[in-house]
Amino acid sequence: MNESAPHPRLVPIDDPEARASALALLAAGELVALPTETVYGLACDATNAEAVARLFAAKGRPATNPLICHLAELEAARRVGVLDARAERLAAAFWPGPLTLVVPKREPSPLAPAVTAGRNTVALRVPDAAFLRALARDLGRPIAAPSANRSGRVSATTAAAVVAELGARVPLVVDGGPARIGIESTIVGLFDATPRLLRPGGLPAEAIEAVLGEPLAAGEDAPEVAADGGPNDATGTGPARAAQLSPGRLASHYAPRARLRLDVRDVRPGEALLAFGPRLPEGTENAVARINLSPAGDLAEAAAALFEALRTLDASGAEAIAVAPIPATGLGIAIRDRLTRAAAPRG
Ligand code: TXA
Ligand code: MG
Repeated sequence: MNESAPHPRLVPIDDPEARASALALLAAGELVALPTETVYGLACDATNAEAVARLFAAKGRPATNPLICHLAELEAARRVGVLDARAERLAAAFWPGPLTLVVPKREPSPLAPAVTAGRNTVALRVPDAAFLRALARDLGRPIAAPSANRSGRVSATTAAAVVAELGARVPLVVDGGPARIGIESTIVGLFDATPRLLRPGGLPAEAIEAVLGEPLAAGEDAPEVAADGGPNDATGTGPARAAQLSPGRLASHYAPRARLRLDVRDVRPGEALLAFGPRLPEGTENAVARINLSPAGDLAEAAAALFEALRTLDASGAEAIAVAPIPATGLGIAIRDRLTRAAAPRG
């Protein structure tokens, strides 16, 4: 931590200075945390190797885990990646929005090599966040932005959560209020003949499949597996392949301090409760703390509330968090995915 600057500077997104300050920092190779429609991102100039190194260090992120490049528009995406007909269709349907496409990297690439962690593919997203798109346009370069949390922890959906995660590791945090969607983008791999769902997220897979006209293969649980090649290498087996296809998708992620118990029907002594919908589990009255993600049972409302609820319940000091059943449909798939990772044993 930088002793002389124990806190980052917080600027409201509608402050007339916000854009100029953020742009000046990015142009100087510094980091800026800012809101997107999914979660807050920790942004830097994706073509500046020093800035990218600073970003990996601030997150404590393994160098093997590549970053998403955010672009102002489709045209800019075509300059860093090779978009085939499928990618063009999805981009036309869902950009700007919560969809990330992993496509072959265009060579020669303007990107700092660390952005793609030595891969021959690149993750691209044109976000619905006007502020971030405007910055990418002003900077004239792709902006690398992972979620603005320390590696392996719960993503930040508010400026306060960013400050709690990163503190003075980031000089400027742009405050745009709570993120609208609240869960990270859906990642689709389009680097070979098989379209793959590499990460469920804010855009339900059903909507993507409808536009593609074919089902998405499960990116992580694909039966054929890479040895040590890039994601285009389909020769290995098991979890190694999963890690190859989607390197950031370690089983244990989004880790709160408290243990999580999923799909509960009852709350045990000492537990906090993360509820969903009108029906409450038995023993609800004994919960040491409780939050209902959506009393009406609305999955979009639940996704928007998820990460902040995990932070709050974790801070309650409960040793465990009991999580009510959440339906495995639409956005529920992404919510369940994050909860399963938060519940995974940590080594
Ligand atoms: O909604 C989002 O996607 C947010 C906002 C800030 O845009 N960003 C985000 O970034 O979630 P991050 O770094 O937390 O997650 C990006 C994921 C990682 O799991 C990473 O492994 C994967 O994208 N990824 C990046 N490049 C890839 C590639 N070439 N092949 C496969 N996976 C890739
Ligand atoms: Mg992340």
